[in-house]
Amino acid sequence: MRLPLKFLAVLLTSLGLLAGGGYAMLTSMTREWFEKDLRLRSQLAVGAARMGLVEAWTNRSGVLAERLTDITRDERIMSAAACSMTGDLVAATDGYLRDFSCRSVLERIQRDVATEIDAWTMTSDLPSGRVQLSGHLVLDDGPPLGFVLLVHDLSFLGRREEATRDLLLLAFFVLALGAALVTLLAAKLAWRGWTRDLQRALSGDAPREFQPLVRDVRALVDRLSREAETRTGPWDPERLRATLLQHLKGERVVILANREPYIHVKTPHGIRVQHPASGLVTALEPVMRACSGVWVAHGGGSADRETVDTRDRVAVPPGEESYLVRRVWLTEEEENGYYYGFSNEGLWPLCHIAHARPIFRADDWKHYVAVNRKFAAAVCEEVDSEDPIILVQDYHFALAPRMIRERLPRATILTFWHIPWPNGERVGICPWREEIISGLLGSSIVGFHTQQHCNNFFDAVDAFMESRIDREAHAVIQGSHRTLVRPYPISIEWPVHWLAGLPPVEECRRSIRQELGLPADALLGVGIDRLDYTKGIEERLQAVDELLTRYPEFRGRFWFAQLAAPSRTKIDRYRELNARVETVANEINEKWQKHGHKPIVLLRSHHEPPAVFRYYRAADLCYVSSLHDGMNLVAKEFVAARDDEKGVLVLSQFTGAARDLTEALVVNPYDFRQASDALAAALNMPVAEQQERMHSMRRLVSEFNVYRWAGRMLVDAAELRRRERMSGRLSSVAPQRTTDGA
Ligand code: G6P
Repeated sequence: MRLPLKFLAVLLTSLGLLAGGGYAMLTSMTREWFEKDLRLRSQLAVGAARMGLVEAWTNRSGVLAERLTDITRDERIMSAAACSMTGDLVAATDGYLRDFSCRSVLERIQRDVATEIDAWTMTSDLPSGRVQLSGHLVLDDGPPLGFVLLVHDLSFLGRREEATRDLLLLAFFVLALGAALVTLLAAKLAWRGWTRDLQRALSGDAPREFQPLVRDVRALVDRLSREAETRTGPWDPERLRATLLQHLKGERVVILANREPYIHVKTPHGIRVQHPASGLVTALEPVMRACSGVWVAHGGGSADRETVDTRDRVAVPPGEESYLVRRVWLTEEEENGYYYGFSNEGLWPLCHIAHARPIFRADDWKHYVAVNRKFAAAVCEEVDSEDPIILVQDYHFALAPRMIRERLPRATILTFWHIPWPNGERVGICPWREEIISGLLGSSIVGFHTQQHCNNFFDAVDAFMESRIDREAHAVIQGSHRTLVRPYPISIEWPVHWLAGLPPVEECRRSIRQELGLPADALLGVGIDRLDYTKGIEERLQAVDELLTRYPEFRGRFWFAQLAAPSRTKIDRYRELNARVETVANEINEKWQKHGHKPIVLLRSHHEPPAVFRYYRAADLCYVSSLHDGMNLVAKEFVAARDDEKGVLVLSQFTGAARDLTEALVVNPYDFRQASDALAAALNMPVAEQQERMHSMRRLVSEFNVYRWAGRMLVDAAELRRRERMSGRLSSVAPQRTTDGA
């Protein structure tokens, strides 16, 4: 039942009860009035007949009965009797009821000391109906001659009461209905006004004095939605699909990300599909499998052109096609300027505190702008409605959100920045900082891994943009456009589908040791990364060296396998790193070879996910030593791989993951001494403690998986759409700063 109906029912019931009570009260009141009225009339009748009565009584003539009959001419007086003061019947009209004999009445009156004859009445229910008996003294000059008893017909009272009740009920009903309608109308008007004020308040326009209240309401709404979320159970592909269907009416999702999830490459054995080493792909590919739609990406594989249809699309995953990859082709010049240049020599080092100097070239910027425009156009070709849901990914596409918004003003654009967002001072290094920030503010939501990155973004907006920042609502407001800025810590699928075909942990341990030529009981650590200077690979190898120096018991017993996927090899800094890592590994191996031990196993090639997961399962520890990392999904993959709940994660404090995975051994990767202590602690850790830590981390990653990450962004987007639709903003998106400043 809807609220107004419920209210009406309650109101009518209350008024009904009220009417019931009122009716009872009114009945007894009217009865009292009527009885008083009767008594008065009988007194008048006896008073008027007094002379005749006295005369007939004192003369003892036989006309007394006639005088009594005169009195009964009143329509309500049925019969009458004249009694002596000693209780003898003197005369009576025809039909006077013998039940009311003079004597019995006199006895009654005498029993009731408080009543005089003249004021005495009594009601009685006879088979013919209700009657009232009243006594009246007949006075002459001396003592009373006697008294007259009158019998009144009260049956009319019942009829009157019925009529009164009907009228009363009708009146109450009309009154109740009227009152209910008036109250409903008033409540509706008040509710409308209240919700309008609340909406205005929640959307950030609340007067200052109401801000604390708004804060409380928001906290309550957040808490309730979190509770609702817990009640609906864990996030999985099914729930994500249902969320998309329920909140966003199942509209298909378009993802824009530079790196494609499936790369077709030519090999001597024909065309093969490769899964790139990319945290972004690790996270988003399962989301796309769950949601379906289109992934717009750079077609960078050597056989990519040969595998697309006429519209540059290919259905994936191979063999279980559930979504499309739309490939966008770049010239070598474009790739050099946009990808290697501005994205990876400019923005990447700008955002990571890892001692690489950002390089900003005007020519690279020109390509970055043009390529963003090219991808934005491809996205607009792939959407199937005027208000599509578009997920823009990472630093390659800072300008695309606004470019898309200009073409699709009603789109819901969720932009996620997969790397750290630096502090305001550092952002200021970029000559095109205003354009970058303005481009991102074309989004509906900009997501970062941590609150710290959100705060840094707000500081940058504050420093370089003309806009209003509503920190309470986590939003940046430019004209009528609002961009939410929120933390959404990214994660991995759960369970990881790659694990399905893998051998048990014991088998992985045995076979990996055998393949590496290590003793069956060798202690093994692993590191899995792209060859990137932000990952702290050199520092990691040096920590292993320190371990062997300070903890001699591990010499000849401990090996460290570093799987390093070549990455961005056209960039000098990456080529230098490649050479550096090789040098460091060789130096350490040479040093320990004297003791008959080459502890570092450096595997510099691309490893497909099943191979990576075999290493995770074979290892005694995994060391993630990033110098700066938005999240780092290797840490979460290691946890997911260990269904035996063994193995220890040693994790850099400079990763986003260190905030979630607090049961890892968290270290400063620059501090080799501390890192080597952690490695030794990991190798000495009792199995029970390993299991306890791993169990708790697995619980966390399973719950906070990537379906939840995507689900929460989509739910927030749906909420935003709902609010914007309500406030009519979708139809009036104001034009803002130009996109590229080119
Ligand atoms: C990081 C970035 C991703 C990128 C990945 C691999 O995780 O955030 O956007 O895909 O590195 O880098 P690559 O340049 O090979 O795509």
